[in-house]
Amino acid sequence: MTATALVNVAELVTWEAEHPIRHHAGVVVEDGRVAWLGDSADTPAADEVIDVAGGTVIPGFVDSHTHLVFAGDRAAEFTARMAGQRYEAGGIQTTVAATRAASEAELARLLAARHRELIAQGTTTVEIKSGYCLDVAGETRSLQLARSLTPETTFLGAHVVPPGWTADAYVELVTGEMLTACAPFARWIDVFCETGAFDVDQARAVLTAGKAAGLTPRIHANQLGHGPGVQLACELGAAAADHCTYLKDADISALAETSVVAGLLPGVEFATRHPYPDARRLLEAGVRVSLATDCNPGTSYTSSMAFCLALAVREMGMTPTEALHAGTRGGAWSPAARGRRSPGAGGASRPGGAGRPSHVHLAYRPGVPLVRRVLTADRWRPAAELPDCPA
Ligand code: NIG
Ligand code: FE
Repeated sequence: MTATALVNVAELVTWEAEHPIRHHAGVVVEDGRVAWLGDSADTPAADEVIDVAGGTVIPGFVDSHTHLVFAGDRAAEFTARMAGQRYEAGGIQTTVAATRAASEAELARLLAARHRELIAQGTTTVEIKSGYCLDVAGETRSLQLARSLTPETTFLGAHVVPPGWTADAYVELVTGEMLTACAPFARWIDVFCETGAFDVDQARAVLTAGKAAGLTPRIHANQLGHGPGVQLACELGAAAADHCTYLKDADISALAETSVVAGLLPGVEFATRHPYPDARRLLEAGVRVSLATDCNPGTSYTSSMAFCLALAVREMGMTPTEALHAGTRGGAWSPAARGRRSPGAGGASRPGGAGRPSHVHLAYRPGVPLVRRVLTADRWRPAAELPDCPA
């Protein structure tokens, strides 16, 4: 067992209900788990002691929703949207064509570069979805590539219906041959339940088949308009209903009653000009809320959790501390993550600049690279030195 102590932490952000922020703190991490928290002066002996010298230490970001396996670029779509054009689910086909055309080596290279970009900004746990090949070999290959970087992989064969298929025939493929091929490389199953993608019956069929194959359901729901996706997530006991942009009171009560996590992805509203979800309303109703990037080329091409935190604070009614909790503990609140190694145990940041360094700087100084070091399983590393494929 290896124990690492961080001492002289001016501000330590924790997941403890009673002391979410500790000052002059120390923390001991043993084999990737937080083993002790308290005053810096009382820190127990450890194999390695790191003097943080008045910095701020935060849990690592848990980016619980990304689509990192893709090729191609959709900057022209973004430009058109900024000029007033609406986002439509069909744009996904552009990325499907580019991803199908890319070689496995090229896809692996693109994925590794995006992954490096994300961990260099303080993300210590990342979920990665398939969903840009929409055929058996391509979806399997996407998940295998994602699996080489994270155990948190999601089968999203039901992203949209590919050209040349009817929706019903494609759902049969996704729930049959494609699921059988993909399930060994996935922990989760997802479906885009939205006008232009899959209706509620098709989404139910996909998630139910995934559950029967041992995967845990999650869903893209209520992103582009009011829809049945959130209610379906609650009916099936999904881990998360992601997006939650358009909610009715009944959706909020269902989320609060079932503990399904409402996954908020404000990079999407930023890049599509849809209204931001009302996080305050969800928090006040007792709903568990997570924040993630949704990093993808169509609706949210950002790998920055700090940017998403800043949007949540500026546009969604969250305090900086609530936003940081949603971007760390929120993403880890799921049945599969419970009881496992605390995914956020390893991250650390040291906001610089004049004045007292604080986690508030994440939202207050958007765009400034504030994460200086990350505590990985083996050592305290400068963020820039992090490898492509950490264990
Ligand atoms: O999370 N909503 C579905 N999937 C992605 C968008 C994918 C795309 O436009 O390429 C999302 O927003
Ligand atoms: Fe998404």
